[in-house]
Amino acid sequence: MIRASKLCSLLVITFPTSILKFITHRNMPQLKPFEQLPHIELVNGVLDENVGKVHMPVIGLGCWSGTTPETQAAAKEWIVTALKAGYKHLDTAHGYGTEGSVGKAIREYAASIGSDPVTERRKLFITTKLPPQHGRTVEDSINESLARAEIDYYDLYLVHWPQSENASGGLDEAWDFTRTWEGMQKVLEKKLVRAIGVSNFSIKNLKKLLEAPTTTVWPAVNQVELHPLLAQPGLLEYCKTLTRTGKPAPIFLTAYTPTGYDTVRSSPKIVELAKKYSTSPAQIVLSWHVARGGIAVPKSTDMQRQKDNLNLYHLPQEVVAEVTALDKEQRLCNKPDADGKVWGWTMEQMGW
Ligand SMILES: NC(=O)c1ccc[n+]([C@@H]2O[C@H](COP(=O)([O-])OP(=O)(O)OC[C@H]3O[C@@H](n4cnc5c(N)ncnc54)[C@H](OP(=O)(O)O)[C@@H]3O)[C@@H](O)[C@H]2O)c1
Repeated sequence: MIRASKLCSLLVITFPTSILKFITHRNMPQLKPFEQLPHIELVNGVLDENVGKVHMPVIGLGCWSGTTPETQAAAKEWIVTALKAGYKHLDTAHGYGTEGSVGKAIREYAASIGSDPVTERRKLFITTKLPPQHGRTVEDSINESLARAEIDYYDLYLVHWPQSENASGGLDEAWDFTRTWEGMQKVLEKKLVRAIGVSNFSIKNLKKLLEAPTTTVWPAVNQVELHPLLAQPGLLEYCKTLTRTGKPAPIFLTAYTPTGYDTVRSSPKIVELAKKYSTSPAQIVLSWHVARGGIAVPKSTDMQRQKDNLNLYHLPQEVVAEVTALDKEQRLCNKPDADGKVWGWTMEQMGW
């Protein structure tokens, strides 16, 4: 039993803090959290015959994990924590060396909840990417990617870069992405993947791809660097408003480097908004992607940050506009090298 004097001191200790909290929070602006994050229904480049529509969860876990076999193998651990945290979308690539870790994480997660890996895999949306050296051998490459993850389809397969390279990593000038795309269309037809798209494509290179006589299927998605310092309004508008034979045929943008690293997360406006709405800078930035109708693939090895990146808010239009106004066309991830080139291409070739 609590004695009267003890009860009094408890009240003195607990009441003021809760009252203070109430008073401070009462007048603070609140953002409405998403009860469930939306999915985007892909329009082009989709295998839907006998399979159903392809829905892409708007937040995925980025699975880039450094350049050594050790760091790439270690990704399995934090992919498992992400699956436990509720992620349904994983973003990997041949070039990341983590396709195997994705497969192992799914199997370990399934075992941990007493389920089977095939059932758990079917609940996920998994993207992988064709490396620039495999433009001539798309089917072999996707088969290797499938074998590494030990799964029988990917949900989305992207041409990682518009450049084509030979086996030694030099540019393959005799091959271009319109020919690579022919291979992508074939693996879609063979149902090795459920949707196909591109990555790092500008408006200039998308136009060339869409206008090629060999292009019958349009890309579903274009994955590009996109964050408040590189808001890509022109590319977003172009992709959103595409039509084909009079019908809307949007290409959805997936943002990579979506949180903009510390450069964006600690920029004054983002920190101010995070404080104003009692949330984190990353949650403000990721909510901004969702408000613009986009998809984002933040990478975090930490379970709490993985969870934060899934707990997003409906942002009012004025906040969306404030964040978009930070745009400086500034690349943070794939910047031009000392010769002004990105992976061997000039900015003009990239269309950047
Ligand atoms: N298509 C392409 O060419 C391309 C290029 C680059 C990247 N990508 C894809 O995009 C994914 C993400 O890109 P990225 O790694 O460049 O950018 P990012 O996800 O914006 O940044 C990752 C960094 O942010 C930290 N972080 C994540 N969430 C956070 C949070 N809530 N609070 C504080 N820090 C947080 C992570 O640290 P912790 O791990 O310690 O949390 C990590 O250091 C990659 O994994 C890959 O899948 C694609």
